[in-house]
Amino acid sequence: MATLAVAGGTPVRTKPFPKWPIFDEREVQALREVVESGRVVGRTPGSKVEQFEQAFARYQHAKHCIACTNGTTALYLALRAVGVKPGEEVIVPPYTFIASATSVLDVGAVPVFADIDPTTMTIDPKAAEAAITPRTTAIMAVHIAGRPADMDALKALAQNMAWRSLKMRHKRTAPVGGVGGSAPSAMPVASVSKPAKTSTQVKAGQC
Ligand SMILES: Cc1ncc(COP(=O)(O)O)c(C=O)c1O
Repeated sequence: MATLAVAGGTPVRTKPFPKWPIFDEREVQALREVVESGRVVGRTPGSKVEQFEQAFARYQHAKHCIACTNGTTALYLALRAVGVKPGEEVIVPPYTFIASATSVLDVGAVPVFADIDPTTMTIDPKAAEAAITPRTTAIMAVHIAGRPADMDALKALAQNMAWRSLKMRHKRTAPVGGVGGSAPSAMPVASVSKPAKTSTQVKAGQC
């Protein structure tokens, strides 16, 4: 076996990684327009924030998009919006960012882990099904590294859950973080922030 670079062997990568995030004159111009408009706070009609929300909603085939300070806030708001209450349980994957679980705690609910499918690295619908209890009211699917969670299977599960919880408790269930309009009540959430993310924004999230 070749000697590892760390042990003095030839490195596989000889050039530095490209600069990231990438900003050019367009971002500078957009920023200049905001500063010169004097409307640097808030979500006024025609503002860049509103333009972004509309563009992102179109991109997601969603009716609406609400810009938030970050993805963690968007998760919290989405959980509140779909009606998750204190004491309820939300099924989340363990392979994700910590906010998947802490946002559930923030609404007073209990995060319940369901393992991932090792081939997709996203929540395994069968594990999610096994984690359902009478207190479960939502499933949070997290898409990882461009690999979407199995939303068809999760949607079917959520519909079944809705039926069960309607019969049992007159409650609604909802997957949070899905792509598009998965029934019965879906709330896609995105974090498009920090240099580590693939979109070159400064800091934002939306639901
Ligand atoms: C899967 C996932 N959920 C939520 C978040 C939280 O997003 P933010 O850092 O914008 O609060 C992140 C951030 O890395 C994430 O990767």
